[in-house]
Amino acid sequence: MTESITIPVLQAMKARNEKIAMATCYDFTTAKIVDRSSVHGILVGDSLGMTMLGYDNTLPVTVDDMITYGKSVVKGAPNTFVMVDMPFMSYQVSVEQAVTTAGRIMKETGCQCVKLEGGALMADRIRAIVDCGIPVCAHIGMTPQSVNAYGGFKVQGKGESNARRVLEDALAVQEAGAFMVVLECIPPKLARLISSKLQIITIGIGAGPDCDGQILVYQDLLGMNYGFSPKIVKRFAEVGDVMTEGFNAYTSEVQSQTFPTLSHTFPKSDCDDAFLEMLDKTMHA
Ligand code: KIV
Repeated sequence: MTESITIPVLQAMKARNEKIAMATCYDFTTAKIVDRSSVHGILVGDSLGMTMLGYDNTLPVTVDDMITYGKSVVKGAPNTFVMVDMPFMSYQVSVEQAVTTAGRIMKETGCQCVKLEGGALMADRIRAIVDCGIPVCAHIGMTPQSVNAYGGFKVQGKGESNARRVLEDALAVQEAGAFMVVLECIPPKLARLISSKLQIITIGIGAGPDCDGQILVYQDLLGMNYGFSPKIVKRFAEVGDVMTEGFNAYTSEVQSQTFPTLSHTFPKSDCDDAFLEMLDKTMHA
């Protein structure tokens, strides 16, 4: 990567109609790998509740969790745009709570922007956070923190009144000052309409090809998840298989004693033979 990715860089990409590629990332080692790649932006998503902490959904994730993971990603990816999610119930309570949480996340992680879920209903929170100089990405359509209200992870914006509501949400977050909006699991033609009406950047996930950019959870796109594979995902590599093969090769060499060899040790600093003989004779087991 040659230039550090900032908000103006992303806005210029949108202006040139150059698509933006974003992926989630949660830790220092993976962030260093993403930073060497051509991916433009990282989301430290509260999806870490599922991918890193093994929860069934994002609801138990805390602000402290986001800060721990967010900090490590920012350290590992100095040239990539990094945004960090505001977790469930860290901004919904009041405008004051939203500003306090956003400030803490930005101060303690060093990220470039925060993301929160919700459209028109969260417009006052977005406005207040932006007024503090903290850039905001909104997230509308299927918002995973509302999984219990939906009764499962379901496509949103189906039918005329729902489509109207999603468009109104998009316009509301733009009006409130968000510079970017994630459109999750909405019908592709609706995503196209929204992307054509908004001046701010639209990033799609399960929303078709016409958004300004795309985002995927990195374990999904790299083939590290076995079992459930959501329809919205394409696997671009089989990293899970490569890791399993590596772990198996290691186990096999440990058991056959082909690893380690002396070349994996520090023979120059080894003990003198006479000393070891003396040690053997004088020390009783
Ligand atoms: O938390 C997350 O990973 C997200 C993306 C899937 C958009 O919100």
